[in-house]
Amino acid sequence: MLRSVIKGVGAYLPERVLTNKELAKNVDTSDEWIVARSGIHQRHIAADDQSTSDLAIEAARRALKNAGLDGTEVDLFVVATATPDETFPATAARVQSALGKPGIPAFDLQAVCSGFVYGLAVIDNFIKTGQVKCAMLIGAETFSRILDWDDRTTCVLFGDGAGAVIFNALQGEGSPKDQGILSTHIHSDGRYHDMLYVDGGPASTQTTGYVRMKGKEVFRHAVVNLASTAHEALNANGLTIDDVDWLVPHQANKRILDSTATKLGIDPKKVIVTVDKHANTSAASIPLAFESGIADGRIKTGDLVLMEAMGGGFTWGSALLRI
Ligand SMILES: CC(C)(COP(=O)(O)OP(=O)(O)OC[C@H]1O[C@@H](n2cnc3c(N)ncnc32)[C@H](O)[C@@H]1OP(=O)(O)O)[C@@H](O)C(=O)NCCC(=O)NCCS
Repeated sequence: MLRSVIKGVGAYLPERVLTNKELAKNVDTSDEWIVARSGIHQRHIAADDQSTSDLAIEAARRALKNAGLDGTEVDLFVVATATPDETFPATAARVQSALGKPGIPAFDLQAVCSGFVYGLAVIDNFIKTGQVKCAMLIGAETFSRILDWDDRTTCVLFGDGAGAVIFNALQGEGSPKDQGILSTHIHSDGRYHDMLYVDGGPASTQTTGYVRMKGKEVFRHAVVNLASTAHEALNANGLTIDDVDWLVPHQANKRILDSTATKLGIDPKKVIVTVDKHANTSAASIPLAFESGIADGRIKTGDLVLMEAMGGGFTWGSALLRI
């Protein structure tokens, strides 16, 4: 069977770093509170003249360099984002025009913080059915643009950034020993809309709106849904948590990462954590964390990696990959 095998990874974080201490000068919060409740120490913030596509293009360039490819070899660009440059056209079309061949498909995918896992499901299906040979999936966000900087319950938790992964179609045996994406599982339950949403949009307020969240409720659902989707990924492949070399979770909150790891019974040393430095970068958080684990030599060829995410909608999902 055809497998989606990783060919290259790239990441980009805007230069500007906003520390908790700096944030506490303008918002009624403290470094101690933010660290204790979320594990976040700092976040990166896009410059005024940087848009989501700028971040995405830079991450994509780095992924192409890492893969030893030029953009013309890519058959499909998918950008997972909840903060597109414009309502339309898709941010992915800007990426394609900057780096890719004219005429190839390029589209955005909206599943908020689960966007990267949803994107893995989409590109894996394009590759498995033989429709494309090389696909680039980018998670890119400028969440700082949709934060209410007077709302301390949300503005301390998010940041900006982008990560990109290139996949090639390669023949596998159809066993969990294959390299590439082994499985994806994605879910949504719109009954929980009011737990985490943006209070604006083209068809409602004609404004962009700001993130609104019932933090405690989101926390509670996140741990349950993340553990359950991790188990379905393992069960689908006849594997157990002991087979997993690295858990690369969506980086929402260190306490969610710890609680999920405990529930799954995985050694905390096998969990890639970047939430301390990046905060929650929504669809960009998994590829950013993944790239950091590869760049520092922890994640190696042959390793089994479990990715999982949960976000507004609610949406949630998991992907199991062999590097
Ligand atoms: C948001 C979150 C960190 C809040 O932590 P919590 O332990 O649930 O805290 P609470 O909401 O109960 O608030 C406790 C107190 O801190 C206050 N508080 C909230 N934000 C604060 C801040 N930034 N600084 C200081 N105090 C703050 C609250 O007003 C509340 O005060 P009160 O007791 O006087 O009413 C936590 O619920 C969480 O991480 N939820 C998941 C969020 C998430 O990951 N969302 C994205 C998913 S993709």
